[in-house]
Formats: sequence, C-alpha cells, structure tokens
Amino acid sequence: MSRICIVGTGYVGLVTGACFADLGNDVVCLDIDQAKVDSLNDGGIPIFEPGLDDLVIRNQAANRLTFTTSYTDGVPGADFVFIAVDTPPGPAGEADLTSVESAAAMIAGELEGRTIVVDKSTVPVGTGDLVAELIARHRGNEIEFHVVSNPEFLREGSAVSDFLNPDRIVLGSEVRESAEEVATLYRAFDCPIIITDLRTAEMIKYASNAFLATRISFINEIASVCDQLGADVTEVARGMGLDDRIGVGFLNAGIGWGGSCFRKDVLALEHMAAVNGCHPQLLRAVVEINRDMRRSVVRRLREELGELRGKTIAVLGLSFKPNTDDVRDAPAIEIIRLLVNEGAQVRAFDPVAAARAAEEVPDIHYATDVYEAMTGADAVVLATEWNEFQEIDWQRAGPLMENRLMIDGRNVYQSDELRTHGFIYQGVGRGTPQRRERNPALAAEGL
Ligand code: UDX
Repeated sequence: MSRICIVGTGYVGLVTGACFADLGNDVVCLDIDQAKVDSLNDGGIPIFEPGLDDLVIRNQAANRLTFTTSYTDGVPGADFVFIAVDTPPGPAGEADLTSVESAAAMIAGELEGRTIVVDKSTVPVGTGDLVAELIARHRGNEIEFHVVSNPEFLREGSAVSDFLNPDRIVLGSEVRESAEEVATLYRAFDCPIIITDLRTAEMIKYASNAFLATRISFINEIASVCDQLGADVTEVARGMGLDDRIGVGFLNAGIGWGGSCFRKDVLALEHMAAVNGCHPQLLRAVVEINRDMRRSVVRRLREELGELRGKTIAVLGLSFKPNTDDVRDAPAIEIIRLLVNEGAQVRAFDPVAAARAAEEVPDIHYATDVYEAMTGADAVVLATEWNEFQEIDWQRAGPLMENRLMIDGRNVYQSDELRTHGFIYQGVGRGTPQRRERNPALAAEGL
C-alpha cells in the first residue's frame, strides 16, 4: 500500500485516483475548485464515465479515497504526488503550463520527506526538468525528491477500463530507481513497462496522440479521394488494416477527430518542433484535413439542398465520440456553428451531451429523441455514432422529414437500407453511385 496524492481531479486525475484507491492504496485527490471537491465529497461525479461513480463511491466508503482543496492535507507524508492538472493550448498552440507550474510550487511548499513527484499531465518535452527546477528553487536541497514522467493514455468513455488494462506503462526519469518505484504501483497489471529518460517519456505521449490523429486524417484524405473516384473507403481501410504492419484500429473514416486531446497535442507538438528549429509539415496538414472534414458536411448539404438559409437540418450526436458527454472540440458543435452561420435551423439530439452542447450552441432546438429531431428536417447529419442510432426506425423517421437526405458522418448505415426508405444517402468516402453519376470527369471516362 502506498500513500498517493493526486493534484487535479479532471478526467485523468479522478480516474487515476479512483483506480489507485481500488488497487488498495491510500489516495487523496486534490483540486483547487472548492465546488468540485464539495460535490465529490457528497458523492457527485463531475463527468460521465462508465464505472467511475461506483469506483469512487466504493473507495470513499472504504476510506481509501478522499477529496480536498488543501495541499497541506494531501502532500505531506505522500510517497507519490501525481500532477494531473490541465495544460490547455495557448494562443500559438503552445501548451499553457500555468497550472503545472503553480501545482509544482504548491507541492514544493508542502513536501516533508522523500517524495516522488509524478507528472501525468501531457506536458511539453522538458517540463519534467522544469518541475524539478521549480521544486528545487523552493526547497533547495532540503528535501529529497525525484520527478518521474508517467504519461496517461486512457480514452474518455472507457477511461476506467483503459487505466486498469493498459497496453503499456511509460515511465521516464533521470534516476532509474525512482521510475522503478512508480512501476510498483502498476504491479497488478500484465503489460510491458517502458523505463526511459524524462524527455523521451514526455515525447512518447505526444508522438502517440499525433500518430493516432494522423491515421484518422490520413484515412479521411483517402476517403475524399474515394468519394470522387467511386471507391469505398470502409473496404479500403479493411484491406489496408489486415496488413500486420498497418493494423485495423483507428482507420474509421468520417467527419474526423475531436475531444480535448488530439488538437491540443498536435498543435503543441507542432509548436514545440517549430520553436526548436524544425519544420513540421505533416502535423499542420493533419489538423487542416480534420478541419476540412467538418466543413465538407456543410458543402455536401449545400450541394444537395442549395442555399441553406431557412433549411432545417437535424444533427444526431453532439459529443466528440459516443459514451461521453464531452463536447470539447466536437465535430458536431463546429458543424452546427457553420450551419447556424449559413442561416439554417438546427434540430439536435444526443442521449447525454445535450446539456453540455447547449452551453456552446444555445440557440438551436434540442430535441427529446431522434424522431423529434428529424421532424420537418430537410436533411439529417449523423455526427456521433451512439449505439442507439443504429436502431432508428427509418419507416417511421422518413415520413417525418421534409426531405430525405442522410449525411452519415460516421459511415454507420448501409446505403441500400436507407435508399429503400426513400433516402438519398451520403457516407464519407463511400463513392456512392449518385456521386459517381454526378461527377462529369468519371462519366466522361465511362466509369
Ligand atoms: C485520445 C487518445 O486515444 C488517448 O490515448 C489519450 O490519452 C487522449 O486522447 P480520447 O480523446 O478519449 O483519447 O478519444 P479517442 O477514443 O482516441 O477518439 C478521438 C477522436 O477520434 C474521436 O472524435 C473519434 O470519433 C475519432 N476517431 C477515432 C475517428 O474519427 N476514427 C477512428 O478510427 C477512431
């Protein structure tokens, strides 16, 4: 059993704290947000994350998990202090380290005995050194401490299960023994543990997220070509993915990636590269392709419906992906903004993210179910592939619509089925016959 303090109770901090407590450790979660801490102490879980509420409540009841706003409650006596605070993008895409710096200073003020300070936030390469410097500046050589980088790879929507079943644990430190001590916290897991230096560990996180975003932007670029040439990107991705060197995961074409991490991390990596004399061309394209996928939805609607002013568009799904209520950088939100700018009426539905979406885009109609969303619509856009959208009764939905056009932004439907119900169907990169017919270049070549 170790004594652990986790600074920051966002997605990463809260999941990490709850899971470490569940593994039998004594965990104090610390956040400067008094309202959040009060609510957690009353059993309120600030995020929608499968399995997290049970885990928090069970471990609170067992006195292994407590919440506080006080560094004095959390840091003295802890074997490990994790930093899991936010690193939002600054104006030039750089990661804003204000929260990391203030956490480091506060931790420094409270250290009592030998402590390992573990950085779990995604932080620019070199931040581990900076944290060590900041703590040393406050405390000199008075206290023994070591900084370890331990990036977190959990995904929202499956955060608890990802934390408890990692593909790998990455630990970086200038003192190998400190990394090995952190490794003992993960001894219950059967996965490779990579021990390396601080900067390499920090870079592994950025490179991983940037690569995942690149895969999606890559397949989306292929999708755009497929659309014009009449090929089906879903089959292309399958055919590619069965090559062991490529792999099948993360090759679903659609309206692109969103969420709190990919954009922020790709931009931060690009910034880091640029200010250090590199010329990061690919990273810029990855972000631009993604932006264009969102715009392409509006272009498709315009192609089919003409001017969008006064048209009614139903948007199904608002969160950046299914099984979360997180709408940060969600494609649906940007698409809705673009539609509203063009004068369209938007009717949106999401099983859990509507309240959060309404904070971003308040002036649209939030429907109570998919059928109400589609009533009177000139087109429906599937933006997030919630399971329940697989079961839409098209026989019922079709007649409710003014005009039956489906833009399937996640390629979840079968065009034949929708066509039987009178819909014009457009997936992303599925080279529909209708598009082929309309492409004069293909027609001229007899394709
Ligand atoms: C991501 C990383 O996966 C995780 O390791 C890191 O710690 C945080 O960032 P998350 O933001 O939760 O996790 O989302 P993820 O499940 O990776 O999906 C990101 C986005 O990519 C979603 O918008 C999703 O819809 C999109 N996506 C994913 C695709 O468009 N196609 C795919 O094939 C896969």
